[in-house]
Amino acid sequence: MTVSAPHLAAQAGTGAARRRILVTSALPYANGQIHLGHLVEFIQTDVWVRAMRMHGHEVYYVGADDTHGTPIMLSAEKEGITPKQLIERVWREHTRDLGNFLISFDNYYTTDSEENKTLCETIYGKLEQAGFIDAREIEQAYDPVKEMFLPDRFIKGECPKCGAKDQYGDSCEVCGSTYQPTDLVNPYSAISGATPVRRKSTHYFFRLSDTRCENFLREWVSKLAQPEATNKMREWLGEAGEAKLGDWDISRDAPYFGFEIPGAPGKYFYVWLDAPVGYYASFKNLAAKRGLDFEEWIKPGTGTEQYHFIGKDILYFHTLFWPAMLEFAGYRTPTNVFAHGFLTVDGAKMSKSRGTFITANSYIETGLNPEWLRYYFAAKLNATMEDLDLNLDDFLARVNSDVVGKYVNIASRAAGFLIKRFDGRVQDSAMHHPLLATLRAAIPQIAAHFEAREYSRAVRQTMESADAVNAYVDAAKPWDQAKDPANAALLHETVSVSLEAFRLLSIALKPVLPALAAKVEAFLGVAPLTWADAGTPLSSAQPINAYQHLMTRIDAKQIEALVAANRGSLQAAETGAAAAAADAASKTKQKAAAPAAEAQSETISIDDFAKIDLRVALIVDCKAVEGSDKLLQLTLEVGEEKTRNVFSGIKSAYRPEDLVGKLTVMVANLAPRKMKFGMSEGMVLAASSANEKAEPGLYILEPHSGAKPGMRVR
Ligand code: 2FM
Ligand code: ZN
Repeated sequence: MTVSAPHLAAQAGTGAARRRILVTSALPYANGQIHLGHLVEFIQTDVWVRAMRMHGHEVYYVGADDTHGTPIMLSAEKEGITPKQLIERVWREHTRDLGNFLISFDNYYTTDSEENKTLCETIYGKLEQAGFIDAREIEQAYDPVKEMFLPDRFIKGECPKCGAKDQYGDSCEVCGSTYQPTDLVNPYSAISGATPVRRKSTHYFFRLSDTRCENFLREWVSKLAQPEATNKMREWLGEAGEAKLGDWDISRDAPYFGFEIPGAPGKYFYVWLDAPVGYYASFKNLAAKRGLDFEEWIKPGTGTEQYHFIGKDILYFHTLFWPAMLEFAGYRTPTNVFAHGFLTVDGAKMSKSRGTFITANSYIETGLNPEWLRYYFAAKLNATMEDLDLNLDDFLARVNSDVVGKYVNIASRAAGFLIKRFDGRVQDSAMHHPLLATLRAAIPQIAAHFEAREYSRAVRQTMESADAVNAYVDAAKPWDQAKDPANAALLHETVSVSLEAFRLLSIALKPVLPALAAKVEAFLGVAPLTWADAGTPLSSAQPINAYQHLMTRIDAKQIEALVAANRGSLQAAETGAAAAAADAASKTKQKAAAPAAEAQSETISIDDFAKIDLRVALIVDCKAVEGSDKLLQLTLEVGEEKTRNVFSGIKSAYRPEDLVGKLTVMVANLAPRKMKFGMSEGMVLAASSANEKAEPGLYILEPHSGAKPGMRVR
């Protein structure tokens, strides 16, 4: 006879009223691929949303592509397609990637929608009526060839400090100094290469400097959950009476891909005005599909909650502009804004040349399991704005040891015995084991850590619980118990406790590992797990199903393949139009305003590069070559027994005696070449312009002092 275990004290249930919650992640631009940086945020949001749904709350998670603005317009132009075609294609790619990483949006929409247009017009109209909109004439950089005003990031020129060429209008990548676009020497449009001119135009401003705004924001800042965000905002707001907030320019002139401002032909809403409104547009679209009362959610005082997960770089837009827009258009304001830090990979900024600018799609295509990444990010995320590092070695070690070694292992050790010896049914009395009571008591604490966005704590506490379970199994030794039929009841207890413990750990990990949790639910034959289910143990009434392998280990080769797949994929991984546009622009510039830089060669892999054996070489002798007006004959010492004889076409640039005793760099494994004057056993490296006629000059490479002959250059 089988009996059901009693329902154990529902410590894990929240008991709280059902909350109504709207959640968003920042909207990715519609001209680049989703990469691991985006995924930190999507995973952070998704884990939170899933944890809140597990309480039974009414939660809606909405997102969209951020589709408007100059960069997207120019990206489309570069591809020879319309912006609408571009954003449709990218939307399909983004939804594919987000689905692959199990991001559980209720709606993933686009800012280029009717709902968004109407909402922007309504909000703008209300702000105008309330006296928050000003029209003013301003002067800006204008590209006379492309016939458009130039956003700052599309103006390049020479650094005013160090003279480095092709620097952006805000800072120099060579010397690091920061300045205004107007400070650039010999500025040029990154789009056409033309010299920008100053031109006047009427712009519309949102009067953030209005004291009503300032007063509201001073009050609103106290709602923010993160002290770093509060401090930032206080810094922006300044002291009372300081009037630090400037008005916000919310219009852009045609040509622009976006929504035209009502009553202002040729003027468009700046993309950063319509983007956050896009959160509401996506929700409005969802509300229509689900029969929800949209107005109820956006008006003040109805008790609904609204949270925005964002990166720390866009705090300004979400804690100043967006709440002020909502407040003075008569809508509710966000309950809170949660900002996270940036992602680094192996301790450094993601880099295309190192292969650490990893796209979501390459991760999937390489065959890595998305839940491995979800686990790793969750294990490192907390409620602060600290940056998060994906250390690839640690990623492998941690996922393999925690998820597979500690957690999955519990089920695989217990399931076989339970099925073979006990018909797959647990021992009900075992459900009262003290170990399980401890684990059950931890569940509400873990749920609370998730709600507080302290995922690393939630994961740590879960893994400590897993350690306790493994220690219990190791001490009980079911494999020994199984040897003696007299121990059947003991064995039954051990594996029953193990499996119930595994079920509890699965509840704790479900927000992070939802696909795995679904497999566990099928294996245990239980309904979708919620926090409250911690109090409803496995029962002998419901036998478990055959155990199927739940998760494999990461193989180091998969990580190598991932890095190789992303190395140098500059084109493929381009995100944000700045780079694409700047790239387009620098190409245009080459045509328009030579002297040209040589076009970049085709990308090679690090393995290709490693084939070239570059060595530091000491020029021990150098002579002119009789009968040649181009060549010098060099005798090079490269740390081998014999010196090398190399002919080099550098006579126009150097007198032989000036080179003797100098160090340079040679290709040491170039096949020897028989020349008219003798055998050449390598090649020295020299720089020259692509167009030597227009820009003569030949410069051999010389290593910094300290380099020794024979050292490898890599
Ligand atoms: O910074 C970005 O990537 C923007 N596309 C985020 C927009 S979030 C919201 F405001 F729409
Ligand atoms: Zn500089």
